[in-house]
Amino acid sequence: MRKGEKVVWGLTAIITASALYVGYVVYNAPAKVMPTYQVESAAAAQGEAVYRRNACDACHRIWDVGGHQGGVLDGIGSRRSEQWLTAYLSADNPQAILPSQVKKFFQMPSFASMPETDRADLVAFLFSLKDRQLEVAAPPQGGGDGR
Ligand code: HEC
Repeated sequence: MRKGEKVVWGLTAIITASALYVGYVVYNAPAKVMPTYQVESAAAAQGEAVYRRNACDACHRIWDVGGHQGGVLDGIGSRRSEQWLTAYLSADNPQAILPSQVKKFFQMPSFASMPETDRADLVAFLFSLKDRQLEVAAPPQGGGDGR
């Protein structure tokens, strides 16, 4: 390798390493504090507290706040029915209902031992997170394909 090539490869390595480092720092930056959402009902407001208490936002994001492992829950109320959410959050093994896309690394833990009242409020909160575009196109039917 000629001297000029070494310099180019050296610089490339340094730039790549810096980019990886910046990416790492940004990805692992501490989560922003969850703002208080305006929610539809008293149950949904209670459910928001349940969401905080159970640290769902360690893995999930709502309004761009929270962790990355579990995915975004914005609009979940338009993608899943209340029955589905209740079943999922009661399951001993949520993987049996929704097989993990990111298995091995992160999985939805079971919240089967959560008090029923908490679960009902939590479901009300999640169901209140609507996706306006999806609502216009096709509101959830809560049946058929099991969603
Ligand atoms: C340890 C990380 C983690 C925690 C904590 C967590 N989840 Fe999850 N959750 C996941 C992952 C990962 C998935 C995606 C399915 C899978 O891979 O198992 C998921 C999936 C979901 C889904 C289905 C999403 C969809 O698109 O259908 C809902 C709803 C949900 N979680 C709600 C909650 C609620 C509510 C809490 C708090 C009570 C919570 N999660 C806590 C990791 C987590």
